[in-house]
Amino acid sequence: MSLFKKSLKGIAAGVCAVGLCALARKVKSRVGTLDIAQSLEGIPFPGTDLYSFLATRELKPMYTEMAGEILKEKEFHKLLDISTGLGYMPIELALHCKDCLVIGMDESADMVRIAEDNARASHVRNTVDFVTGSVTNLPFPGRYFDLVTSINVLHHWEDPVSVMEEIYHVLLPGGEFWIYDYRYETPQKVWDDAKERLPLYLRLPFTIGPVGGWKAAYAERELRRMIEGTRFEVLSIEPKTFTIFEQKLPAFTLARLRKPSTTTD
Ligand SMILES: C[S@@+](CC[C@H](N)C(=O)[O-])C[C@H]1O[C@@H](n2cnc3c(N)ncnc32)[C@H](O)[C@@H]1O
Repeated sequence: MSLFKKSLKGIAAGVCAVGLCALARKVKSRVGTLDIAQSLEGIPFPGTDLYSFLATRELKPMYTEMAGEILKEKEFHKLLDISTGLGYMPIELALHCKDCLVIGMDESADMVRIAEDNARASHVRNTVDFVTGSVTNLPFPGRYFDLVTSINVLHHWEDPVSVMEEIYHVLLPGGEFWIYDYRYETPQKVWDDAKERLPLYLRLPFTIGPVGGWKAAYAERELRRMIEGTRFEVLSIEPKTFTIFEQKLPAFTLARLRKPSTTTD
């Protein structure tokens, strides 16, 4: 097959992978099932490269802002970003905290490969480690990290309470779990206006990515109920504004949870 035909096939497969993920999220938000979304989420090649192509420029400022706010709040030393995707969150954390041990984990080996390339390009390959593993069975010892982050993936988990228990296990007593996700309570108009301001070629990726994530996200009351089923203490749950697609969007929620410092496990 010619190189041209191969490339076209790769692009088409990538578009299908991303499109199916969006469709699965939609199904989940309509009928309340996560099965399809979950089975599609360990994004394989070439969906990974397409995701990388679409997300690189448009989402990157968000990670810089998130990492800045985390490290301004408190001194953390051992940090883990789960379902890290392209690795931008751990890369930003490593850029801002030279003495930290930073690890990014993803189920997709191909995502890990791209994240490693991104870390190399940002000159932090020696200070960030990437690991292949699943949130359903974290490949780390207990009481190891003082911070775990998850960025815009909570709504993908089939059993979020079990994932939170996994995270609880790998955290040191007093360690924190910062969950960022799209904010379900964001008015539709915020998204419509943001989309209107975009050039035509960015409207589809914006709809498939952030808007799809928002539709599948949990409402704050659902999130609180979910956390009540875990052993975490809630430090805060609040609305947040971050820059994506070159616009500051008040479209995110941050939930800060803590493993009690008095815990005996
Ligand atoms: C929306 S993408 C990337 C999210 C990333 N945190 C970001 O901000 O760009 C979701 C990621 O979750 C990964 N993933 C899916 N199921 C997973 C699992 N069970 N354990 C770990 N990662 C998983 C996918 O491979 C994908 O890279």
